[in-house]
Amino acid sequence: MAKKTLEHLPDLKGKKVLVRVDFNVPQDAAGVITNDRRIRGAVPTIRALLDKGAAVIAMSHLGRPKGDPVKDKPFRMDRVAVRLGELLGCPVSKVDDSAGPLAKAAAQALKPGEVLVLENLRFHPGEQGGEESFASAIASLGDAYVNDAFGTCHRKDASMVAVPAALAGKPRVVGLLVQKELVILDRLLANPARPFISLLGGGKVSDKIGFIKALLSRVDLVLVGGAMSYTFLKAEGKNIGASRCEADKLDLARELLQLGAGRIHLPVDHLVVDALDRPETARVVEGEIPDGTIGIDIGPKTRELYASKIATAGTVVWNGPMGKFEDDPYSHGTRAIAQALAQCPGITVVGGGETAEAVEAFGLDTLIKHVSTGGGAFLEYVEGTPFAALAEIDDA
Ligand code: 3PG
Repeated sequence: MAKKTLEHLPDLKGKKVLVRVDFNVPQDAAGVITNDRRIRGAVPTIRALLDKGAAVIAMSHLGRPKGDPVKDKPFRMDRVAVRLGELLGCPVSKVDDSAGPLAKAAAQALKPGEVLVLENLRFHPGEQGGEESFASAIASLGDAYVNDAFGTCHRKDASMVAVPAALAGKPRVVGLLVQKELVILDRLLANPARPFISLLGGGKVSDKIGFIKALLSRVDLVLVGGAMSYTFLKAEGKNIGASRCEADKLDLARELLQLGAGRIHLPVDHLVVDALDRPETARVVEGEIPDGTIGIDIGPKTRELYASKIATAGTVVWNGPMGKFEDDPYSHGTRAIAQALAQCPGITVVGGGETAEAVEAFGLDTLIKHVSTGGGAFLEYVEGTPFAALAEIDDA
């Protein structure tokens, strides 16, 4: 069902708009933001609301705080608010509260054209508990609600579901980022240009069972890489040496291989090492992986084979790196696939999370048709899971 968008909002002059964004950005141990893609992704919506004369109250979670104020300090929203201000080119205030009197006072003081960022919503247990009193306190801050947090749409946190529910009767719409994600993913799932090829990588088969099954019902070809390929190879009876493997998922891997018989390709060669921290031992092996060695990336023949398939694709969906790309010596497979997507004339879509970070790190993100801001949300949307968060948005 189509959802109302910013275009459906009434006159916003003098109104305060609550915008649920996904500012859950990667940070280093000190809390420094290492990739601001999700903050950049929310800027067009916030700017559009400010242009319409509104004041914006932006809210998000950041990380997975544990309820310890000292350990949770890196998860405070201060750095995010500063970065948002830099991107918007205007001052952004931040309040150390989300649903209490400080937040209320800060929201009341907000003037048209101003932006306020609430404290990390997950500092309050009511957020993940979906608590109604927490949600109604937040809802009381705004005259309208905008969901621009595609990356969190698969969660039932209060700010995603109970807050818009509490605002029933007031405008509740999706922002430009969620609108764009839904248009692209819906088109991709309903009517993909063929051949439709999926690239699957990353660590575990078990993290992506529903996603793999959903893809197998739609795609012409699945090209597998990353650590999950070792579980599939083992399931086929191949030797994988000391490579990572989900021993308890071999039956599942066999079931998936059967489901996709003839359409699933596994790597034909591998980069292996004697130990993860000994890149000087890296060498290419074909076929099976010898005992005592660890598969760490796809090999050159697999890179070429996969790139040649991608070159002919009408649609490509990629989720999960092909190897341990964050270490330069093991990044060639993931880089080659990113380059192949960048050159592919078809529709190319990258699921968020570390795959998105990889294409950005290689400087190829602008050559991909769509890089999703959703990690888990991307997987679940493709699987066909209905999102409670979107059910609370007004139908168009
Ligand atoms: C994500 O990064 O997938 C979203 O921000 C949701 O975060 P979560 O997995 O901690 O709920």
